[in-house]
Amino acid sequence: EANEKESMYLVSEFAQKYFQNTMLNTDEGQAIGLSYFKERGFTQDIIKKFGLGYSSENWDAFTKEALGQAYKLEFLEKTGLTILREDGRHFDRFKGRVMFPIQSMSGRVLGFGGRILTNDKKVAKYVNSPESEIYHKSKVLYGIFHAKQAIAKQDNCFLCEGYTDVIQMHQAGIENVVSSSGTALTPDQIRLINRLTKNITVLFDGDAAGLRASIRGIDLILEEGMNVKVCTFPDGDDPDSFARKTPHDELLRYFDENAMDFIQFKASLLMKDAKNDPIKKADLIRDMVMSISKIPDRIKREIYIQECARIMDISEEVLFNTLAQLVQKDI
Ligand code: CTP
Ligand code: MN
Ligand code: MN
Ligand code: MN
Ligand code: MN
Repeated sequence: EANEKESMYLVSEFAQKYFQNTMLNTDEGQAIGLSYFKERGFTQDIIKKFGLGYSSENWDAFTKEALGQAYKLEFLEKTGLTILREDGRHFDRFKGRVMFPIQSMSGRVLGFGGRILTNDKKVAKYVNSPESEIYHKSKVLYGIFHAKQAIAKQDNCFLCEGYTDVIQMHQAGIENVVSSSGTALTPDQIRLINRLTKNITVLFDGDAAGLRASIRGIDLILEEGMNVKVCTFPDGDDPDSFARKTPHDELLRYFDENAMDFIQFKASLLMKDAKNDPIKKADLIRDMVMSISKIPDRIKREIYIQECARIMDISEEVLFNTLAQLVQKDI
């Protein structure tokens, strides 16, 4: 078992080097892969730092090379790098895609995300490695290896949705950043961050899906006893597109000025349509108290109740009663 996992790590590491080499040192790789990343504004340094690569259009170039170097088909299949067809032939899962290696906290390659080069809506934009003995997508955070020191030092972690968000933020000089990469945020992912800091600033995409994910993420983070802020972006922007067009100092100032405590975030979001509607306002207040009820620490709960009362202009007593009911139900 231990040997099997080690073999899977080794073939993944080989794949990372192979895709990187294909991109940097072949005509096809340079013309298609490298120029794609350059067009997105990634520098040569950042491309190397994150070990980005390109997987050839050729349907089994990688698999052939790996087999030629005596990596076993068994582990190529178990990592999902190679897919076996029913007719017995095998082909490369990531053919014709640019490659984002996904690394563990200690830097080992666990799997890949592969992006198509077009914006063709008929094809999945990203294909990811399947679940395997070494890759559990709900337990991994993209970028954690390159972010861990900065997270501890800044005592804060920026949490984004995507691969390119993490990379563009690094390029803008902000290194305490990871992404949940397409899975809904999980408690295991939050616990990885919790080892480094108690503070998370959620930076999800400025669209409806991003807002929904932020709202869901807040409660999970609070349940882990951590502090959560949310910083939103103009509609249509994500951290990648926003960081790309914003100078470093201005970017830091934006986060500073726009990161809201979760209570303020919920209030601002929901007040938009609840403004003069007493029923909606009541729902919103219950929703806020529901989030507060997730906080394990009693003193913190009380402080947030006071803040909620102030912001929503309602008596603390009513809120404490609502909280008492919710906390009791939890037990
Ligand atoms: N994702 C995925 N499969 C998809 C779409 C998205 O796994 N078909 C994951 C990827 O990790 C992606 C993240 O969800 O990075 C966020 O999705 P999205 O915002 O749609 O993509 P971006 O990261 O913004 O990618 P890009 O800028 O390249 O379009
Ligand atoms: Mn495991
Ligand atoms: Mn999105
Ligand atoms: Mn996005
Ligand atoms: Mn994007």
